[in-house]
Amino acid sequence: MTTPYKHEPFTDFTREENRTAFEEALANVNQIMGKEYPLVINGERISTEDKIISYNPANKEEVVGKVSKAKKEHASMAVEAAAEAFKEWRYWNPEERANILFRAAAIVRRKKHEFSALLVKEAGKPWNEADADTAEAIDFMEYYARQMIELAKGKPVNSREGEINKYIYTSTGVTVVIPPWNFLFAIMAGTTVAPIVSGNTVVLKPASATPVIAALFVEVLEEAGLPKGVVNFVPGSGAEVGDYLVDHPKTSIITFTGSREVGIRIFERAAKVQPGQTHLKRVIAEMGGKDTVVVDKDCDIELAAQSIFASAFGFSGQKCSAGSRAVVHADVYDQVLQRVVEITEQKIVGNPENADTYMGPVIDQGSYDKIMDYIRIGSEEGRLMTGGKGDDSKGYFIEPTIFADLDPNARIMQEEIFGPVVAFAKAANFDEALEIANNTEYGLTGAVITRNRQHIERAKQEFHVGNLYFNRNCTGAIVGYHPFGGFKMSGTDSKAGGPDYLALHMQAKTISEML
Ligand code: NAD
Ligand code: ALA
Repeated sequence: MTTPYKHEPFTDFTREENRTAFEEALANVNQIMGKEYPLVINGERISTEDKIISYNPANKEEVVGKVSKAKKEHASMAVEAAAEAFKEWRYWNPEERANILFRAAAIVRRKKHEFSALLVKEAGKPWNEADADTAEAIDFMEYYARQMIELAKGKPVNSREGEINKYIYTSTGVTVVIPPWNFLFAIMAGTTVAPIVSGNTVVLKPASATPVIAALFVEVLEEAGLPKGVVNFVPGSGAEVGDYLVDHPKTSIITFTGSREVGIRIFERAAKVQPGQTHLKRVIAEMGGKDTVVVDKDCDIELAAQSIFASAFGFSGQKCSAGSRAVVHADVYDQVLQRVVEITEQKIVGNPENADTYMGPVIDQGSYDKIMDYIRIGSEEGRLMTGGKGDDSKGYFIEPTIFADLDPNARIMQEEIFGPVVAFAKAANFDEALEIANNTEYGLTGAVITRNRQHIERAKQEFHVGNLYFNRNCTGAIVGYHPFGGFKMSGTDSKAGGPDYLALHMQAKTISEML
């Protein structure tokens, strides 16, 4: 009998003892900087000459780790190992599979600050964002383990006289897991353990910017008792190893989280039946967002400003859920805009290792250049209110940047920037605000700040996003409370951390027996 699921609490860093503990964790994590990590295939460690180097984005000189880089031959070995391990793993008692996740969650919880400190180093996350990422990783394990225990009971179907019918869920096969770098722990861990607990075996290809946390997580799973071959770790290039794994005829499921461009590529490639393939592949593809905070005229102005600020600049705007557009009713537009600028200018941007830093760097040079290009575009399309400057001399730092008076069809209102940039547009009324909110090809998250009950009910029907929030920010979904996934070009709406998620990794089987 398991205790009911409750999400992992966030650490209160206003308390002295928590600050001290986190500082110690940061000091400890320094000891593993620059360490090497091998591939893991069928439980065997394989070191390659060629390495993926993970750098600290706040300090380009600091190497977080050197991770062996797989080639196609390793990817092939990994799929074969996963296919072989599947033969036994699929028949494991689901409760025993769930127990491995419970143990893994306990291992991570015991060393929570150490893991979060690594996220500060590897992704430049400020303390609270790193802490939330680790908490979410724990949540995924705790939640999916419980979900599996429930799902193992099957679902009720009718039986007739002389006939007993059952409806059960069985596992599917080799699952290729391709996570992004932004929720480097939570999404990587969640998309890995969901197929595992539902009886599939995994080939994990982590994001090249953040492979160290993934290497350590594979060690956690092993320590928790996962048999060899159930998870195989093959960091490598998307174009070489990623395409190969997606195309492989023995791959049954691909679970991808990342950009629209790569998601579409995977979706298309997976549709092609390869020689020797005896099934159709399933694709879970969770992709980008261009998320909007709508502010109505009848609203709490301070709440609106705080919600826009938090949605836009948490983790430097590098969340698929980031509110990179604010659509504000004309009557309160100037007031809200001015207040968001004030809040933004009070916050500290800098080294994420310092407790008081609100916003650290962006992930790498490619992102830095892309975001700075969008800032140039924004300066032509709108009115720069604050920010706009970057400095990539030591790390990849960009000021939180606000543009006002955008045309709803401007590029910075339409394209995912994935950086600390928010664009404001004015709406004449609530109808127009909803129209603007829906006018992108994405449909991931959205928020509405209003006191108007009728408008709340209308937005519930007419604001077409997978995660819709009222009177709060549009980021920060919690496993088991806010199942997460998007509409339109944001993806397949798989709802990670929700009650239907595991079933996407399973095959439902109807069994009918005559008495
Ligand atoms: P990305 O698409 O560049 O990379 C994601 C993963 O795909 C990485 O592991 C990468 O190595 C791999 N990859 C690249 N090319 C590949 C190929 N040809 N075949 C197979 N794999 C390949 O995305 P990113 O920069 O890591 O992450 C940022 C993006 O992720 C943003 O667009 C963001 O909105 C999105 N995201 C979405 C969600 C969501 O739940 N919807 C959550 C987090 C991030
Ligand atoms: N789950 C993350 C959020 O809601 C992406 O911000």
